[in-house]
Amino acid sequence: MDRYKLLITGGAPLRGETTVFGGKNTSVAVVPAMLLCDEPCVVENLPDIEDIHVVYDMLNLLGAKVDYEPKARRMTVDPRPVNSFHVPYQYTQRMRASYYLWGALLGRCGQCEVGYPGGCAIGARPVDQHIRGLRQLGATVDIDHGYVRATAQRLKGAHIVTDMVTVTGTENLVMAAVLAEGETVIENAAREPEVVDLCDCLNAMGAHITGAGTPVISIEGVERLHGAEHTVIADRIEAGSFLVAGVVTQGDVLVTHCQPSQMEVVLDKLRATGAVLDIGADWVRVRMTGRPKPVSIRTVPHPGFPTDMQAQFMTLNCFAEGTANITETIFENRFMHVPELCRMGAHITIEGHTAIVEGVAQLTGTTIMATDLRASASLVIAALAAQGSSTVDRIYHLDRGYERMEEKLRALGADIVRIDV
Ligand code: EPU
Repeated sequence: MDRYKLLITGGAPLRGETTVFGGKNTSVAVVPAMLLCDEPCVVENLPDIEDIHVVYDMLNLLGAKVDYEPKARRMTVDPRPVNSFHVPYQYTQRMRASYYLWGALLGRCGQCEVGYPGGCAIGARPVDQHIRGLRQLGATVDIDHGYVRATAQRLKGAHIVTDMVTVTGTENLVMAAVLAEGETVIENAAREPEVVDLCDCLNAMGAHITGAGTPVISIEGVERLHGAEHTVIADRIEAGSFLVAGVVTQGDVLVTHCQPSQMEVVLDKLRATGAVLDIGADWVRVRMTGRPKPVSIRTVPHPGFPTDMQAQFMTLNCFAEGTANITETIFENRFMHVPELCRMGAHITIEGHTAIVEGVAQLTGTTIMATDLRASASLVIAALAAQGSSTVDRIYHLDRGYERMEEKLRALGADIVRIDV
């Protein structure tokens, strides 16, 4: 797993244009959703990242006919040959979002036996809401010897109120409900653009979903879903990460093929740093001179500030002229980049769920260890602006969610190379 590391020499302002690919978190939901169809489906704009390769492996294992062209960013899935509902833990430990297979396989096969997803560095990440919702839809669900075993003749629509806003929980229950008998209403639903994209995709297949993007989603179950083509939305977190890198390195970066309307709160915060932003329908340009002003943030569900941008803004604040508070309310253990940033000379103290970041004039390069996907991005950004050279270890976390990040950064002028461990 730990095959590569990045060598970065900091100091070069990023300048130029970069393109954003399709979103990881929408792709890992949309591809398993294809299992629900009675005909082949095509997904376009998939990022060529490790998580998509894992989904591909899982669909093949289940017997689906999958034609994947990573360079063309396209996958065609014919779910009709599916002949298994069993996914071993060796697969599900590679990707937490394997729980989408619960809803999709229940819809397709009326049963599933899927390894309980592996633990995750950013917190306990319980799945009780997924399981409770599936039970409310009439499934029998047991956790047995590390597997989630669920069965149902045909799921039945239900009124579900989730205890908290959960993105994948909402998506999983939507998937389970589209082929259920009758109407399902999900209250306290997540409003993330990824939820909307999944619902758009399912509606293109013939589902009847309304209310996506609001806290109440209604699903009128249908008998079958037909084939469709769907283009996944741009990765708003990848876009945001490159914009932060532009600010932190005091550069001039144009990010294209993104959807600024889905990134408003992040763009507002970038503006508050003193950066100059120009925004078009599908592009954002950021220009920065001098150190950023500090910006405090509090992570909350969409449309609030996304937890997936918290680590990158932590790095930004490390270089700011002043002090910012970063409060993480979604995941209980998402400050693991802090000790690494401190090893580079950052001044950060943690009080409960809040990190107090006192900006410094300079960080210095050293060996740093990536601990999760977004933490990895924050460390890469820190290294790009630090004085001297850094080595970022364990970048398999980064590869799960960012396609060829170092190539894109190099094209923007960064001194960054990937080398074998
Ligand atoms: N929660 C529960 N029980 C559940 C489900 C969630 O207690 O059954 C809690 C979680 O522990 C957390 C909160 O509810 O405290 C919200 O978690 P949520 O379920 O929304 O997170 P997720 O769906 O597991 C997705 C993304 C994450 C992103 C979060 C929040 C995918 C595959 N993952 O996770 O993405 O941080 O939503 O926006 O879509 C990433 O891309 O780096 C990443 C971690």
